[in-house]
Amino acid sequence: MLKVRKAVFPAAGLGTRFLPATKAMPKEMLPLVDKPIIQYGVEEALAAGCDQIVIVTGRGKTAIEDHFDVSYELEKMLEEKGKTELLAIVHHISDMIHVAYVRQKEALGLGHAVLMARELVGNEPFAVLLADDVIDAAIPCLKQMIDVYEATQCSVIATQVVEGPAISAYGVLDAKPVEGKFHGRLFEVSNMVEKPRMEDAPSNLAIIGRYVLTPRIFEALERTPLGAGGELQLTDAIRLLLQHEKVYGYCFEGKRHDTGDKAGFLKATVEFALKRPDLGEDLRIWLKGLKL
Ligand code: UTP
Repeated sequence: MLKVRKAVFPAAGLGTRFLPATKAMPKEMLPLVDKPIIQYGVEEALAAGCDQIVIVTGRGKTAIEDHFDVSYELEKMLEEKGKTELLAIVHHISDMIHVAYVRQKEALGLGHAVLMARELVGNEPFAVLLADDVIDAAIPCLKQMIDVYEATQCSVIATQVVEGPAISAYGVLDAKPVEGKFHGRLFEVSNMVEKPRMEDAPSNLAIIGRYVLTPRIFEALERTPLGAGGELQLTDAIRLLLQHEKVYGYCFEGKRHDTGDKAGFLKATVEFALKRPDLGEDLRIWLKGLKL
């Protein structure tokens, strides 16, 4: 059985919801407390057993490459000043992994970004992580999904229950529960609907930014016509994949933060900071003092 070793991070989007912060800086580099959001995703992928990271970048994204690269000047300076703790943090990032980069020359959609990774992924199952979905979980979300992949040998889409009108902001699964080992969390997908009106939504299972995909998705992507917004949509390709293979939705255990959205980003910042031993206590006292 082929293992899921490769994790693809599409990071070539324009990040328009976060302008002007993202005019010259990729949104993936926005810090949650003191760590860029993409590093949370990369650490999750490593913890899930992936040892090869592929980042799909575009124009103006060199900060991401610099972040995972060795910074000799910075390391030398920290060493000379005896700042060993900071040196270890900086070392840890560049030591972490081998990262490969591929360019998406034009932002033609998430599906197109995934297709750019085809040569680097080859003929094996792989993961896709959207960095702005930061997931706080006891067992890394991607690890939970790879467990499902290993049991089913099929593509797996992360899903979460979203109640009420908020469902209209998501891709939504048309799916039925599967009995057995993952009972209650596993769903067999029959279709997907992109951003439906609440009354048209086939379920309350929203698609979240984690996927485990079989390599057959690349053929499907090649056959997929441009969809909503003139972009190549990953969900359209998964719908084609469904004609040949089963696809599952998995309702992961953990809390997802949508950091691609300003309000979601602010809430995540506060929640992550409150959990930090070096910041939480002070912040809690200060927040209580705000008398909202
Ligand atoms: P989003 O829908 O969040 O778009 O993309 P965006 O451009 O990043 O941000 P907004 O909505 O304009 O603020 C979902 C994911 O797909 C990647 C993005 O980088 C993000 O991780 N993406 C999207 C690409 O890599 N290429 C594309 O052409 C489109």
